[in-house]
Amino acid sequence: PRNVVVTGSGSGIGAALTTLLRAQGDRVIGVDLKGGDIDADLSTPAGRAAAATAASEAAGGVVDAAVTCAGTSVPGTAMVTVNYFGTTEFLTALRPALAAAGQPRVVAVGSVSGTQPADPDVVTACLAGDEAEALRHAGRAVADGHARRLYPSSKAALARWARRTAVAPGWADAGIPVNVVAPGIVLTPMTAGLFDDPGMKKVMDTAVPMPLNGYLRPEDVARTVLFLVSGANSHITGQVLYVDGGAEATLRGPEV
Ligand code: NAI
Repeated sequence: PRNVVVTGSGSGIGAALTTLLRAQGDRVIGVDLKGGDIDADLSTPAGRAAAATAASEAAGGVVDAAVTCAGTSVPGTAMVTVNYFGTTEFLTALRPALAAAGQPRVVAVGSVSGTQPADPDVVTACLAGDEAEALRHAGRAVADGHARRLYPSSKAALARWARRTAVAPGWADAGIPVNVVAPGIVLTPMTAGLFDDPGMKKVMDTAVPMPLNGYLRPEDVARTVLFLVSGANSHITGQVLYVDGGAEATLRGPEV
């Protein structure tokens, strides 16, 4: 069986993906705060490094695919530490084990929110790999009342990191495709509370219009990931694939 490392495997999209991968015979090595095969806090450099080492060891040094679903939408510094560095540093640490596989694949879960107004200083610091500086700007954004820009910032930076990394030495030339799946609104524990409040539901429907088939179920997103990590994906890399019922096309229009 293939060894597939999934972060955020305990809930929502990561849990749905874990179920589908196991059903098709893959071996999932789940990473989560608690209750995963590997318990780790991806918000810290030490947690990321320990998780990557443990995942690589559990896979016998050969990781066939890595999918990062761990993330949070609570405005604050976790946007930087979990959504961005908890993905990019973790995947970078897994690169040697991915390169050892016959048909390695990487998918990071981004968001259609990555197309929305971001804090350029946070994005720049993230892409520079400067976590301290990114945290400083994130703290400033919170103090200035712009905390709501941090989620889009983390996902915009992630999409740009993936496009850059996909074609950087050691990835495409080592046979490792790197893509982002960017969902619209998905019905998971992350969003559940938001729908209790009719006012908030209206805000979300305006911010993320989904004319095709409405809200996503986690397995709708997981099925797209399943394709991108399969052998059928021989040449797609560096792409941000919006799985969003038309939200990105509505928001950005035809001329991107
Ligand atoms: P969820 O809240 O159901 O699951 C997130 C998982 O990440 C949880 O199992 C949690 O324990 C784990 N996690 C959080 N912080 C962690 C940390 N410091 N270390 C290790 N694990 C940690 O959320 P959901 O909805 O499944 O989200 C998955 C991904 O999809 C996230 O990156 C999210 O930003 C993204 N996304 C979700 C959307 C939605 O509407 N639910 C829309 C667009 C993107």
